[in-house]
Amino acid sequence: MTDRLSDLSKRALKDIRNSSTLEELDSVRVQYLGKKGSVSIQLKKLSDLDPSDRPRIGKEVNKLKKLVDQEITNKKNSLNDEKIKSNIEDSSLDVTMPGRTSIIGNPHPVSSTLNEIEKIFLNAGFLVEDGPEIEDEYHNFTALNIPENHPARAMHDTFYFNTQYLLRTHTSPIQIRSMEKYGVPIRVIAPGKVYRRDSDITHTPMFHQIEGLVIDKDINFTHLKGILHDFINTFFEDDMKLRFRPSYFPFTEPSAEVDLLSKDNHWLEILGCGMVHPKVLTNLGIDNETFNGYAFGMGVERLAMLKYGINDIRLFYENDLNFLNQFK
Ligand code: FA5
Ligand code: MG
Repeated sequence: MTDRLSDLSKRALKDIRNSSTLEELDSVRVQYLGKKGSVSIQLKKLSDLDPSDRPRIGKEVNKLKKLVDQEITNKKNSLNDEKIKSNIEDSSLDVTMPGRTSIIGNPHPVSSTLNEIEKIFLNAGFLVEDGPEIEDEYHNFTALNIPENHPARAMHDTFYFNTQYLLRTHTSPIQIRSMEKYGVPIRVIAPGKVYRRDSDITHTPMFHQIEGLVIDKDINFTHLKGILHDFINTFFEDDMKLRFRPSYFPFTEPSAEVDLLSKDNHWLEILGCGMVHPKVLTNLGIDNETFNGYAFGMGVERLAMLKYGINDIRLFYENDLNFLNQFK
């Protein structure tokens, strides 16, 4: 009996050793440890033995079963390792190849322009403020002296969500929000995206403005002209020509639009401005006898067009890499 078991053990270990795939190994397992496997049969046969032999032989058969089981597990692990290794070798991975470098982007020309403008006004002592792009009609219109049914509302080509909410059509509502927050005197700029149903070579449906607001005592129109001239000359690093045209905004009086003479000699409107309308101040509970001031709203893309000599504003938003890579 003991000899038979030792034979069985030798055969089993040899078969395990000789298995070269996981499938082969599994059939070896079935052959020895399966329900009808040779080792299992030995276990069943224990009941036929003389009771005095049972404990000794039983112990040996169990030892054999454990050994075969352990050897199969070991072999399985090593076959698995080999499989992983050969998978790696088979795949066409060449670790000596040079790595792929990631392409480093550069700021969008409109972002750089915005940053530059902010820097200039920060140096002039302005605070930078922010406001929501989804605005209510009170801040976008009513508080700016554009009541309901006022013809100026129609000039704005507004994207409405409903009667109360809209995509802001200009950065001027931030004038109101800043005065609500800080009161007066105040000196802020407010950059941001604005939206209008508008598209041609000088208009896009989304564009950027920078609003400026200064309220203090004894402010007059020459202060406004002075800051705009200073800003433009600093921004273009040159002595630039500005043209102030009388215009109309419900929230300023008097009002002007300002054109800038480009290097190739044509005028492009860059901003609207004026002295803050006394009604805007009273709407906010500010004493307009003591305080007054000026405001302006500049088109950021327009300034970038003039600075970089771009003749179609829509190029900024086509995401053409050949265009964008020129601004590295
Ligand atoms: C306004 O939006 C006023 N809120 C400006 C203002 C502020 C006046 C404070 C007085 C006091 P206007 O609609 O003209 O004004 O727009 C201002 C500037 O934004 C224009 O001069 C132009 O440079 C730019 N702009 C206007 N519409 C577009 C557009 N669709 N695409 C690109 N730039 C535009
Ligand atoms: Mg205009």
